[in-house]
Amino acid sequence: MKRQMRKKTFLVLLAWLALRGLSAAAQTPDQIWNHFVEWGRNPPANPGNKSMMELYVEQLLAEGVPKEEAERRAKLISGELRQKSRANNVLFWDTMFRIRSGPERPLKLLAETIRELPPGRALDVAMGNGRNAAFLAAQGWQVTGYDISPEALAIARRRAAALGVSYEIVLSDHRSFDFGRERWDLVLFSYIVADEADLDLVFGKKLWDSLRPGARVLCEGNFCEPLVRTLFSLTLPGFRLERYSDREEMREDWGSGSVKGRVIRAVVRKEP
Ligand SMILES: C[S@@+](CC[C@H](N)C(=O)[O-])C[C@H]1O[C@@H](n2cnc3c(N)ncnc32)[C@H](O)[C@@H]1O
Repeated sequence: MKRQMRKKTFLVLLAWLALRGLSAAAQTPDQIWNHFVEWGRNPPANPGNKSMMELYVEQLLAEGVPKEEAERRAKLISGELRQKSRANNVLFWDTMFRIRSGPERPLKLLAETIRELPPGRALDVAMGNGRNAAFLAAQGWQVTGYDISPEALAIARRRAAALGVSYEIVLSDHRSFDFGRERWDLVLFSYIVADEADLDLVFGKKLWDSLRPGARVLCEGNFCEPLVRTLFSLTLPGFRLERYSDREEMREDWGSGSVKGRVIRAVVRKEP
């Protein structure tokens, strides 16, 4: 009798696990994306300043989604599904900035590099909340920043007002931003994200032509390796790699604080 009961319990458990697995696997990419979008409309408070995806995975776990499946969906959302369209990308980043306003401190790499430079015109690519633009403006630089996320730019605008500094803020994606010709003394890439195609379309010759002679390109984050490789392969006149490092370290910046990750730092100069 006892054995039969145990067998029954085991079978019920097995059926429940199978059903859970099935319902997890049955989610289409659209359902996965829509669930995230719905959640993002009214995200939870974030007193622990966790990353958006950490919070979202917690939500899925609370709904009974198995850990592996929850992580798979999070990866899909921040990768393939976010990149599916411009609208998805904007939604993703707007949700991100609604949940967490991003790091407050400017990059150390930026502070170290400009210490010896006279202020000039700077471009902050995908400026986010404006932490680097505000720092540069306070040091006397004339700064323009652009970003695809209206939520990020609203924070950047509030920051400028609160600090009494000014910088130009442009709502744009990489491809439609007008980089101009010989316009910048410094172009900053701080933890930016871009599609593979943007490297050739935007951050190759177009970026180079927008630099004044003597200008510097500063980069921190995973994007720097393909960026430097792209610029290098163009055999540009005046190209000089002034600084390059690639390390595993605690990502105090765009990581959640406790995550180790690859951090690349690069400074390229267009020699006069
Ligand atoms: C990790 S955040 C970095 C923000 C900022 N540079 C910083 O270091 O604080 C990436 C930024 O890229 C922006 N972004 C993503 N895709 C973009 C695109 N295609 N064009 C312009 N900005 C984009 C996001 O809105 C977000 O602000």
